[in-house]
Amino acid sequence: MDAEITLTVDGTRHRFTVDTRTTVLDALRERLGVTSPKKGCDHGQCGACTVLLDGVRANSCLLLAVACGGSRVGTAEGLGTAEDPHPMQRSFVEHDALQCGYCTPGQVISAVGALDEWAAGTPSAATRRDGTPADPDDEIRERMSGNLCRCGAYANIVPAIREVSD
Ligand code: FES
Repeated sequence: MDAEITLTVDGTRHRFTVDTRTTVLDALRERLGVTSPKKGCDHGQCGACTVLLDGVRANSCLLLAVACGGSRVGTAEGLGTAEDPHPMQRSFVEHDALQCGYCTPGQVISAVGALDEWAAGTPSAATRRDGTPADPDDEIRERMSGNLCRCGAYANIVPAIREVSD
């Protein structure tokens, strides 16, 4: 069964018809040509498909597009351009915070969402354990724990995010 929905992706409004079984990830990649969200596990485990759904981090592989009609979707490619990158994109480049790069768009958009949550005072597991603020790098590791990097570039990802958080 098909349904007509509207999604505003990186500021551009799209009205289109999708099969009701289509995920937001597949709608973005296959219907709208927005390919920065990647399909890693397709099961909510790796974070490669992370987007900001109405400003909140979400695994787009777990969301049905029909359930998200009318929402705003933010992706890494909407953050900045090669000529004018977002500070998080610039920091990832300057810290060499990637190897193969497959997980990087998800890492970057997740990091932007994580810092927004942190700034808003939303507690993480790191802060909740003993009731006091965690070491900032531990805070970042905890808040980014949903984004996996099979190359193991975490040693550079954490400082890249830390620089933008300071
Ligand atoms: Fe969505 Fe892995 S592809 S979490």
